[in-house]
Amino acid sequence: MILVLGGAGYIGSHMAKALREAGEPHLIFDNFSSGHLAAVKGSKWLRGDLRNPEDLRKVLSLYDIDVVMHFAASISVGESVRMPAEYWQNNFVGVLNLLDAMRYAAVHKLVFSSTAAVFGEPQEIPIAEDHPHAPTSPYGDSKHAVELALRAYGEAYGMRSVALRYFNAAGADPDGVLGEDHRPESHLIPAAFLSAMGKTAPMQIFGTDYPTRDGTCVRDYVHIMDLAQAHLLAVHHLRAGGDSREYNLGNGEGFSVREVLETTERVTGMNVPRTDGPRRDGDPATLVASSARIREEWGWKPAYPDLETIVRHAWDWRKANPDGYTD
Ligand code: UFG
Repeated sequence: MILVLGGAGYIGSHMAKALREAGEPHLIFDNFSSGHLAAVKGSKWLRGDLRNPEDLRKVLSLYDIDVVMHFAASISVGESVRMPAEYWQNNFVGVLNLLDAMRYAAVHKLVFSSTAAVFGEPQEIPIAEDHPHAPTSPYGDSKHAVELALRAYGEAYGMRSVALRYFNAAGADPDGVLGEDHRPESHLIPAAFLSAMGKTAPMQIFGTDYPTRDGTCVRDYVHIMDLAQAHLLAVHHLRAGGDSREYNLGNGEGFSVREVLETTERVTGMNVPRTDGPRRDGDPATLVASSARIREEWGWKPAYPDLETIVRHAWDWRKANPDGYTD
């Protein structure tokens, strides 16, 4: 069965739903520090912490696990600049604990959530896998360091891994069962909903003097269920004996912060109150993926590439759950 670390979080819970739909036996492991109990409904789950090696050893010895998926990370670029210790502990030390527990239990297959942030300020757009790695935040550094560890563990210990570098994970379960709910909300699309609903103060646009078409940051928003499908392909690859891989995952099209907010206004039919603010630490101007490699090698093709659909799925859930998860 598949162990889903961080399966109560935004990406992990959508992954677990995709596993339920695919009939894949799985077990969620989460410390519920930012995940939600309501998001794990329908899957078997237990409480544990990556920073506690004993928790990992226990779960890997008690259950018949052949593949691990890792979503249990701290995820905010800006926060990582202010709190680097937390990011190195959770995102690097925690994963080393995991890798060592996996070695001990002879579990050799891992799907790892990596990020566009490993590339830092891009030298060319779109960003392909062989673009130089020069992260500009402790968040990006911690994920890059894990990728290096995975290569070394692969060569020395036979660990096989697929590192999936998400660009901006966005949207929600098209069935409306799951959504995106961070506390406090830091991500652009859900923050725009809260601002529109009057649940927060008017949101800030972080930086309006970037060298982009309208001065705001450009990002590649990719649907959460399309990310989940890429993970299923990774599991099939590893189970078939495939070698370690690293892939970028995005739609290959960039949208500025202002364009996303305009799309949000169109989809919701509401005004998104906002002010222009200063840049946020660690944010590159433009991040757009080339996903040519995974498209060619595995035939990955996003089912929901359109920004309006991504925002609409996210809004459908938020509209039905104005206070988010209530666990
Ligand atoms: N933004 C605002 N105002 C807000 C929130 C966000 O202007 O209130 C801007 C950000 O500055 C950025 C864009 O909207 O330009 C998207 O920001 P998000 O916080 O939604 O996402 P990030 O691009 O910071 O981060 C995402 C993932 C990270 C990953 C990164 C890689 O959450 O895990 O993409 O680029 F590392």
